[in-house]
Amino acid sequence: MAGAMDSLELVAREVAACTACPLSAHRTHTVPGEGTAPASLMLIGEGPGRQEDAEGRPFVGAAGQLLDRMLAAIHRDRTNVYIANVVKCRPPDNRTPSDDEALACAPFLSRQIALVDPDVIVTLGATATRLILGADVRITRVRGQWHALGERAVMPTFHPAFLLRDPRQKRLVWEDLQKVAARLGIPLAEGQGERGW
Ligand code: URA
Ligand code: SF4
Repeated sequence: MAGAMDSLELVAREVAACTACPLSAHRTHTVPGEGTAPASLMLIGEGPGRQEDAEGRPFVGAAGQLLDRMLAAIHRDRTNVYIANVVKCRPPDNRTPSDDEALACAPFLSRQIALVDPDVIVTLGATATRLILGADVRITRVRGQWHALGERAVMPTFHPAFLLRDPRQKRLVWEDLQKVAARLGIPLAEGQGERGW
């Protein structure tokens, strides 16, 4: 369902009842997304991990805490952005969702994008980037450059879970986030950025 009567609450209710892909069998809680709408900035991750599945909220584990610090560096938090995932149910053992699972869940994400109506979408990591920009794109090639989804600007960047494993890549992600801030007209003070993450 989409259109004038749609709402994030309705999406969340339908997600909670969804059995459209095999991930429904393993979940404790669905994780529809969190934040405000409309919002100029929307972030899209991959899928819930253990802690997100336990709480029903996106990005609440270690990667989520890093994401919150990254957002704080551009003066954003969950009261002024929307955070969603490609799949709303936790893949077993945190494996990457299959293309079939991502496509089964994609109508929910499409509705969330329409409802949040962001100017800028940041795709976090390969799974979200491939869903939004096309299955053949490579995150290492497209990150840091502006892309388009209709009238929306898309900035692919590395996933915070990857940054936890390879903190040297934070410098590149900070470059990407500075581009996002500039596009959204968010002024940044000196001395912010990845050193504080
Ligand atoms: N990683 C994701 O991609 N999404 C979450 O919600 C948490 C970790
Ligand atoms: Fe439905 Fe998405 Fe959960 Fe699969 S991951 S069961 S499509 S809500």
